[in-house]
Amino acid sequence: MSAQQRPIVAIDGPAGAGKSTVAKAVSERLGYVYVDTGAMYRAVALGCIRRGVEIEDEQAASEIAAGIGIEFAPADNGGQLTLMDGVDVSRAIREHEVSDAASRVSAHPRVREQMVARQREMGQCGGVVMEGRDIQTNVFPDAEVKVYLRASIEERARRRARDLRERGLDVPSREELERSIAERDERDATRGTAPMAAADDAVIIDTDDLTIEQVVETVVVLVRQRQGEASDG
Ligand code: DC
Repeated sequence: MSAQQRPIVAIDGPAGAGKSTVAKAVSERLGYVYVDTGAMYRAVALGCIRRGVEIEDEQAASEIAAGIGIEFAPADNGGQLTLMDGVDVSRAIREHEVSDAASRVSAHPRVREQMVARQREMGQCGGVVMEGRDIQTNVFPDAEVKVYLRASIEERARRRARDLRERGLDVPSREELERSIAERDERDATRGTAPMAAADDAVIIDTDDLTIEQVVETVVVLVRQRQGEASDG
């Protein structure tokens, strides 16, 4: 990275570890673009569901992935909207059943190929905070800043419940949430293609006992350090 270039910040980790909240806040602090790659797999899953495509059918799912328009746009409340073929699906992609379908559809190598190509294009100029499962290990293995967020399953289920409630969506029982998060972790971490993992050189942050602001501050300091190193060297 040259002193003029702005880093790629890769934030990975399991569901509910705080990636979205932290990545969004870091991007705002730095004036970087925020890319939620989970929303992209969710849009593909929703596309399959709406078109009656069997999630396990890799060929049909990869055709959806290749043909679907996925864009992000600023929301009035300062957040980000996910558009599928130009239509706002931000709420629909957060439904509980879509979480499970997104995890299953993301295990197809040909679906991943399509998404990874789009993600590399979005991040190629730097100045981006990208969150997901395989950003630091696969999409941008040379990212200047790699952060892996972790949290206990109890805390993650609590956060998921709060998130669903705030969006006005159905909230499953705590047991069901913990079970589905554990199932998703297992599937995301053991799939054959680009499984969820921390890079060897990632900074690992356990977020259970930290405030969002503390985590955001840690990441922002890391980015500034890398920029400082680039201008020194
Ligand atoms: O972060 P999320 O819960 O919105 O992601 C939904 C699913 O998408 C997740 O269970 C696994 C998949 N995913 C992935 O395989 N790779 C990514 N970079 C991001 C998400």
